[in-house]
Amino acid sequence: MKILVTGGAGFIGSNFIRHLMSAMPGHEVINLDKLTYAGNLENLKDVERDPRYTFVKGDICDRRLVESLEFDGIINFAAESHVDRSIMDSYPFLQNNVVGTQNLLEAARTRKCRILHVSTDEVYGSIPAGLFTEESPLRPNSPYAASKAAADLLARAYYETYGIDVVITRCSNNYGPCQFPEKLIPLVISRAVEGKPVPVYGDGGNVRDWIYVDDHCRAVAAVFLKGEPGRIYNIGGRNERRNIDLIRQLLAKAAEKTGADAEDLIKLITYVKDRPGHDRRYAIDPSRIESELGWNAETGFEKGLAGTVDWYLANRPWWEHIVSGEYMEYYRMQYGERMKI
Ligand code: NAD
Ligand code: TYD
Repeated sequence: MKILVTGGAGFIGSNFIRHLMSAMPGHEVINLDKLTYAGNLENLKDVERDPRYTFVKGDICDRRLVESLEFDGIINFAAESHVDRSIMDSYPFLQNNVVGTQNLLEAARTRKCRILHVSTDEVYGSIPAGLFTEESPLRPNSPYAASKAAADLLARAYYETYGIDVVITRCSNNYGPCQFPEKLIPLVISRAVEGKPVPVYGDGGNVRDWIYVDDHCRAVAAVFLKGEPGRIYNIGGRNERRNIDLIRQLLAKAAEKTGADAEDLIKLITYVKDRPGHDRRYAIDPSRIESELGWNAETGFEKGLAGTVDWYLANRPWWEHIVSGEYMEYYRMQYGERMKI
């Protein structure tokens, strides 16, 4: 089977392609990626020579381009993915995440092939207690989450109206190698290594439910291969953490691995003005995928975090290149006011 993987040069997409090449040897991949600021072909250096892998630089919104490709199934990772950027400018989020997904749904409709749409638990909004199930109402609070929810609803409509073979996954916060350092975990690691202030939004009491990226990739593969058409699958690691506790744990881990003084790293914690509309808590119930598809999150948090810190320490040029370039302009816009830089 030839699978069109979109957004394969990003964080989760590149980890997924690596997983697919090793765990699903009978499959070929076309990686369609526009290479936005978040797309990086360095993430795929180890697979680029594999004859089963092809890269196409292009936009999922480009209908002609998508029509010209040959494939038997689609897995859609391509998206603008950062909440803070969606607050600064929501236009690219609506265009890429909604119109782009519609274009891929059309392609699946004309080819009569399966499409797996990769979504997020953020479509459910914030939950004070209990867990999000697949039946929880959609209450997105950021422009990013709203654009993902809109795409989910389109996917649902294409299933109901045209009977196309759609499956949707909604995963919690991922971490692991190759994550762009605007997201919390790589941001904390890179700032700690450079001895720079670590910004904590609000009181640091917001809760996220963390999952190691490999576990998410295995779940996506399971849903693509075995999921029931029209069905939604929540994916999560049953691993809730308050941001401030996670940041402290990460800083301690960074100190242990670099030989820095743990107290000095803790002093980098800087409370800053909160994110507008900041969701207080995400917590996902993954019982459906566990019981129906036999998937479980396997990576313990301690082990996953240690491996992630090791990866960022061993791959400094990967992120140093990012944090010294255009990203600095974003950083100044995002944090300048908050941190007086
Ligand atoms: P990312 O920002 O690291 O990567 C996104 C990739 O998509 C980049 O390579 C980018 O170049 C590409 N892209 C963006 N717009 C495109 C377009 N119009 N055409 C082609 N390529 C385009 O994102 P990520 O963290 O890897 O997330 C991947 C997917 O998983 C997204 O759909 C996101 O909503 C979803 N998700 C992410 C998380 C998380 O914690 N990161 C959790 C749940 C779901
Ligand atoms: P993030 O990695 O942006 O993921 P999401 O907003 O999609 O959950 O943020 C994770 C949590 O960390 C979220 O509650 C916001 C918080 N956060 C900070 O406290 N400081 C930061 O600099 C960033 C980027 C995030």
